[in-house]
Amino acid sequence: MNQKIIIFTIISMTLALIGLMVIQIYWIQNASSVKEANFRRSVTEAMVKVVEKVERMEKHKALKSNQYESMFNFNRHLPYDAFLTRGALDSMISLILNSRGIDTRYEFGIYKPEGNQFLIKKSDNYQKELIKKGYAFPLFQNDIYTSPEYLCIFFPREKQFLLTELWGMLLISILLIIVIVYSFTYTIATIFKQKRLSEMKNDFINNMTHEFKTPISTISLACEALSDKDLRDSGNFLESYLTMIREENKRLSVMAEKILQTAVIDKGQMKMTREKINIHDIITDVIKNLRIQVEIKDGEIIRNFGAVRSIIEGDKVHVTNLFYNLLDNANKYSPKKPLIRVTTDNVQNGIVIHIEDNGIGIGKNEQKKIFDKLYRVPTGNIHEVRGFGLGLNYVKAIVDEHHGKISLESEVNRGAKFKVFLPFVIKE
Ligand SMILES: Nc1ncnc2c1ncn2[C@@H]1O[C@H](COP(=O)(O)OP(=O)(O)OP(=O)(O)O)[C@@H](O)[C@H]1O
Ligand SMILES: [Mg+2]
Repeated sequence: MNQKIIIFTIISMTLALIGLMVIQIYWIQNASSVKEANFRRSVTEAMVKVVEKVERMEKHKALKSNQYESMFNFNRHLPYDAFLTRGALDSMISLILNSRGIDTRYEFGIYKPEGNQFLIKKSDNYQKELIKKGYAFPLFQNDIYTSPEYLCIFFPREKQFLLTELWGMLLISILLIIVIVYSFTYTIATIFKQKRLSEMKNDFINNMTHEFKTPISTISLACEALSDKDLRDSGNFLESYLTMIREENKRLSVMAEKILQTAVIDKGQMKMTREKINIHDIITDVIKNLRIQVEIKDGEIIRNFGAVRSIIEGDKVHVTNLFYNLLDNANKYSPKKPLIRVTTDNVQNGIVIHIEDNGIGIGKNEQKKIFDKLYRVPTGNIHEVRGFGLGLNYVKAIVDEHHGKISLESEVNRGAKFKVFLPFVIKE
């Protein structure tokens, strides 16, 4: 996919997501104001009922206690302690609030602004809030002789109470947003991964074509030369052309084998034989094969075999390829005078092999990726060193098959040190 289309898609998806979130927040806010209004209405209805009840209680008591006196004072209400206790008022309020579904802590008091005093109060808490933020309902409005008094009620946990009523909706919204954001980032990550993969595949195909082309053209040139009768008759040339064809053919089959091997690893169909193998012998053989290539560059391979037990259980061919790949890399990625050190040591249940070079090294960010199939550390547009990016992927697969471990220590321009652990026996 085109880079511009990807960026455009990401931006539009991000904007759409933000838009959706804003709408969601708007709806939740709306729902919360509706809830708040409902709450206020219920509180008002409940408290109006309480006020009515209190007034009725007062009238009842007044009539009962003294007919004569109340005839003169029929507009002045009795003092509260004559007909109402704090407990009675509390249970009245609680009953009426509960019947309206309001089940949260409250504070109440009968407040008289004249003298700034509470005639009845539930407790000493929240006095200020009760006056400033509470709901207030006038009592005995007909009593023109007494200065106004209010029944005040305050809900310290009003916001939380309203929120708990909304929490279901909130939770579902948050969950949905998380799911959408997660899927979005996952999709974007996958797009980039696929893009990188397709670039790597292109590189691989280019590389492969290049690598195959050289031996093929050499062979075809040699064949052409061989078809020339005069040349064929001069014995020396004949032999050298045949050697050339044989060598190039060998190179071709090694490359084809390498690519085929990767397909086998992918399918999980790698065949392993288990026999006693000597790691020191195997490494010595590999070094013998690579020595010329290293010496051409004026380099050297130093062996330091410290392991006393070097015989392990494993597959000879695969383990040989494993060390060939590591040593081949150590040589390939050391442009100047390669100094390659191979050390072995025994640990409790196996052998540890270090392969260290003085080459270009691998940056921290790349270290995690070099064992991925087809991955090659990017070096701008041209790779000076040819390769398929398959070697280390194969190495990792072999180490895993042997239940071993491989790790890497490296810094850019400071060389690389691969550490391989292989157990004496492969435990199932
Ligand atoms: N010793 C090393 N020093 C520096 N970089 C290395 C070393 N070994 C591997 N790398 C980096 O890791 C990448 C992957 O290595 P790998 O052996 O898998 O592939 P390759 O060498 O490019 O190709 P091939 O499949 O032919 O081995 C290399 O392209 C190189 O960038
Ligand atoms: Mg390699």
